[in-house]
Amino acid sequence: MPTRKKIGLIGAGNIGGELARLCANEELGDVFLYDIPAKENFAKGKALDLEQNGSVLAYDSNIRGTSSWADLEGADVLIITAGVPRKPGQSRDDLVAINLPIIRDVANSAKKVCPNAFVIVISNPLDAMVYEYKRVVGAPKGLVAGMAGVLDSARFQLFLAREANVSVKDVRAMVLGGHGDDMVPVLSMTTINGVPASALIAKDKLDKIIDRTRKGGGEIVNLMGTSAYYAPASSAVAMAKAYLRDEKRLLPCAAYLDGEYGYKDLFMGVPCVIGGKGVERIVEVSLTEEEKGMLAKSAKSVQAVVDICKKG
Ligand code: APR
Repeated sequence: MPTRKKIGLIGAGNIGGELARLCANEELGDVFLYDIPAKENFAKGKALDLEQNGSVLAYDSNIRGTSSWADLEGADVLIITAGVPRKPGQSRDDLVAINLPIIRDVANSAKKVCPNAFVIVISNPLDAMVYEYKRVVGAPKGLVAGMAGVLDSARFQLFLAREANVSVKDVRAMVLGGHGDDMVPVLSMTTINGVPASALIAKDKLDKIIDRTRKGGGEIVNLMGTSAYYAPASSAVAMAKAYLRDEKRLLPCAAYLDGEYGYKDLFMGVPCVIGGKGVERIVEVSLTEEEKGMLAKSAKSVQAVVDICKKG
């Protein structure tokens, strides 16, 4: 009877490696770092390096690199980063043609070996990839979520903290909607330890911060030539940990909407409670008319990419 949790990381690239490091460092379970056969040795090498790191940092997680889905048998959690990241000038939606067959391939394999895993999708375009994953696997809605809101909110919180000259620890904010340029930073839920952000930051500055948040991923792609990986990995691990430790955290995640917020059969960022049963519930909060309008615009963009997937 295995007593340790099993965590499958699908994609051993930049985010996959950082995910493995964080999962091991927090001793969330044993880690299987999966990549395609052409990258098997790369995955094995990364895994070995990270295991050796445990001798220095004092963690005991086993970390294995693999290109065999059989190793993922019975995984408790899967975090999917398989696919290609953005290059400068590309939008997340530009990745759909390449990443759609990859997510289908991953979903078909996962369905066979770990159909009961809690699955966190990171691959972009996020809201469409997580939709496609659930469609192919036919998984219950609570067991599949997309990671975007925690990351987008983290970016928003950092920019607010720097502008207000306060600790980032005291900033609470939620970014909802799709993981694209029309995501919805919800000002009515943004506070600095309970103090409305608008009391500390002027409107024109807030508008600039919202704009920078929406383009936050692209800003990093333009600087590095590839997409971000530290904060995305930490954000997904926060979700995985909430599930594995039944933390009941209220986090913005791309969840399957079945009427919530007025949307059906769509994944989009909404406040969710994540605990031992996965996405245990979606919290519906009242939004201002302006925020509802922004959410509708964002949903339309997400739906357009999902429609491309449905045709493809
Ligand atoms: N199965 C498993 N892994 C795959 C598959 C597949 N079918 N196809 C590709 N991969 C692997 C690649 O070999 C690569 O090692 O996915 C890995 C992706 O790693 P990176 O190129 O370093 O990309 P990363 O920065 O980790 O981003 C991955 O997350 O945020 C999103 O937009 C980003 O879609 C991108 C994904």
